[in-house]
Amino acid sequence: METAKLGTVITTQDSPSVSSFAFVIDEKNPVKRGQFISVLTEEGTLIANVMNIFKTNRYFESAGSVKEYSKANDLQHSFPIKEWEYTIAEAKLLGVYAADGSLNRPSFPPSPGNSVLEVEPDLLNKFLGFDQENGLHLGDVQQHNLKAKFNLTKLLQKHLAVLAMSGAGKSYAVSVLIEELLSRKSGKIAVLIIDNHGEYVSLSKEKELADKIKIIDATEVKIALQHFSAQMIAKLFPSMSAVQTRELGKTLDSLRKAGKPFEVSDVISAVEQSESLTEASSGALLAWLSELDSLGIFGKADWPNFDAVLEPGKAVILNFREMLDLRRKQLIVDYVSKRIFGLRRKEMVPPYLEIIEEAHNFCPEKMKSENALSKGIIETLAREGRKFYANLCLISQRPVQLSTTALSQCNTHIILRVTNPYDLDHIKKSAESISQSTLDVISSLKVGEALVLGEAVNYPVFVKIRQRKSKESHGTKLEEYAVQWEGAKGKLAKGSDFL
Ligand SMILES: Nc1ncnc2c1ncn2[C@@H]1O[C@H](COP(=O)(O)OP(=O)(O)OP(=O)(O)O)[C@@H](O)[C@H]1O
Ligand SMILES: [Mg+2]
Repeated sequence: METAKLGTVITTQDSPSVSSFAFVIDEKNPVKRGQFISVLTEEGTLIANVMNIFKTNRYFESAGSVKEYSKANDLQHSFPIKEWEYTIAEAKLLGVYAADGSLNRPSFPPSPGNSVLEVEPDLLNKFLGFDQENGLHLGDVQQHNLKAKFNLTKLLQKHLAVLAMSGAGKSYAVSVLIEELLSRKSGKIAVLIIDNHGEYVSLSKEKELADKIKIIDATEVKIALQHFSAQMIAKLFPSMSAVQTRELGKTLDSLRKAGKPFEVSDVISAVEQSESLTEASSGALLAWLSELDSLGIFGKADWPNFDAVLEPGKAVILNFREMLDLRRKQLIVDYVSKRIFGLRRKEMVPPYLEIIEEAHNFCPEKMKSENALSKGIIETLAREGRKFYANLCLISQRPVQLSTTALSQCNTHIILRVTNPYDLDHIKKSAESISQSTLDVISSLKVGEALVLGEAVNYPVFVKIRQRKSKESHGTKLEEYAVQWEGAKGKLAKGSDFL
């Protein structure tokens, strides 16, 4: 296929070399930073990436001529100064496709005078490693006419992190991912969404998705106390001693052995009747147990029934919109994640993706363990999940506060706009393949523009996230919403279309 000529390779002090070259850009075909280009050489088709673009004008190289220029304003009419201006691009060599189709490391530089061409879309697709047939269509490769369709395994099996500052488009991008996962014809996985603000609920309003989404109000979740160990309770109450934990464990065991489901009040009665406990221990245990009861989360049976909640090609949204207490949220996330992972290990639920919004709240880097109840299971999922097809997608606007153990196990990163230098530095440390020039671009990205790097792509690539098919939950602008609220005299129904 004929591809457009973009420029001509030139000689500079240290290029062309086997790692980089520069070229003068043809005026009629503008080239942008981050664009992929190719050069035909004896070795085959070289693929390179534009790292930087700058302008030069020989006339302004000499201080003398600049002085003359400032003196005589009309100098540009006497000299063709404009024609001496060139736009030069610096490109990094990435690989060379030989005639047999194999991709190799370049061993020869391109020659000065070689034409720089657009990369043929098919070749770029192969180079980046997209799956046009069955991939998840998250957007388009920027500056190229190519759909960014990510292979399911490569994008998710070694976990995904979506990082950016607030408002950059994380939830939007993940909604697009969910739309793609739920519309797959084959190779379907289940999706579990830990939805902090009820942002994903509106996905179910889309006709095509409505019967594929189940929404669970987190305030209604119940945990069967028989599945909860004394160690888990001790995590909630750090002052519980090892002896007290063991005693509580014995009480729970004896209730389990009785074979009937039980709740907190049953444990309280058992502790009250126990003869082996000292008065002090029993008093302390009773205080903790009544605190446990007041959480209102524990019951005789799980609700929902976690064995049956996940289905391939369907999503379950755990909606925490009405729950404010972070420890309660963590407790539920901890239990649900453990239960489902346990069931997955026994192959009793389908392979799944667990999406965690505001992951830094559930898996914080620095926090006392009683305030990081779900951290352990999320780190375990990050370390071991892939072997059992239990995959994670961690979303965070504060990567610095997110557990490094969990983040470093996320082998694909989707990074949208980030400007905070601490976060940028953290991202650089957690993603080895990221160069300084790529990092510079991250702070200038527009809403919805993302850098994808890691396992899912063979080379970091900028993607414009596609438009979602479903309506956004919080799509209404502040002013519009205020007008609607006034009109309805403050009586907008909960879950109305305005939200
Ligand atoms: N790819 C996109 N195309 C069009 N609009 C977008 C895109 N991504 C984001 N937006 C717009 O930007 C707004 C903010 O996006 P989003 O809610 O996804 O941000 P966020 O990164 O999740 O922020 P927060 O950290 O506050 O949750 C959206 O409501 C939407 O209007
Ligand atoms: Mg969001």
